Amino acid sequence: MEAFECIKSRQSYRAFKPDPVPGETLQKIVEAASNSPSYTNTQPWEMAVVTGKKKDTLSQKLLELAKANAPTSPDIPAPASWPEQMLRRREEHGARRLNTIGVKREDKEGREALRLMNYEFYGAPCVAFLFMDSSLGEWSIFDMGLFAQNLILTAYSLGVGSCIQASVTEYAKEIKEFLDVAEDKKLLVSIPMGYPAPDAVLNTYRSLKKAPQEFVQWHG
Ligand SMILES: Cc1cc2nc3c(=O)[nH]c(=O)nc-3n(C[C@H](O)[C@H](O)[C@H](O)COP(=O)(O)O)c2cc1C
Repeated sequence: MEAFECIKSRQSYRAFKPDPVPGETLQKIVEAASNSPSYTNTQPWEMAVVTGKKKDTLSQKLLELAKANAPTSPDIPAPASWPEQMLRRREEHGARRLNTIGVKREDKEGREALRLMNYEFYGAPCVAFLFMDSSLGEWSIFDMGLFAQNLILTAYSLGVGSCIQASVTEYAKEIKEFLDVAEDKKLLVSIPMGYPAPDAVLNTYRSLKKAPQEFVQWHG
């Protein structure tokens, strides 16, 4: 797939076929992402890829925690507040996503069901977790973002859909324990990956994007 087409048409997928992603394809995705730029070439990325029974067991554990609203321990806390415009976008995103699947705002159960799907990795056969050392600072988080983007774009170019997740990192402590990752690593995101379910209504959701004239100043 041509790079422009890949970037322009990528979207987050939230429903997957059960078919596993072949090991060679996953290796290819990781290999391409390893070519990401980073601050003074420090390459802070560390990663766990979880599939099969191990993924199912982890998902079950997370689902139980989320259902019970168990205490959370994210390594990167959610912001306490947002600027007005972003708050509006967040609300719009939430409302439009519910609308796509026909769940009304006042339908608490429907909203909860959608929230919980995160912890089942939206049914993806594979999930990647991205970590970095907790001694690292903001530039490394920037690098991790570049790595994540290259990972999902490569995946998409090979027909593999994905959805970056912050929600699941609420249970960073339990995830690190389960994966035998040192406690002092920072879990940044989880990324379910798989072949998108073609008829799933969840995958018909398209987020709204700012137009370039809203964020670019051209000089000269
Ligand atoms: C850092 C980050 C965290 C995200 N967390 C979640 C999440 O927990 N659950 C989810 O369904 N989508 C999550 N998303 C996906 C965003 O909702 C999505 O990227 C955004 O709405 C734009 O849609 P698009 O990816 O289809 O262009 C996250 C995306 C990013 C970059």
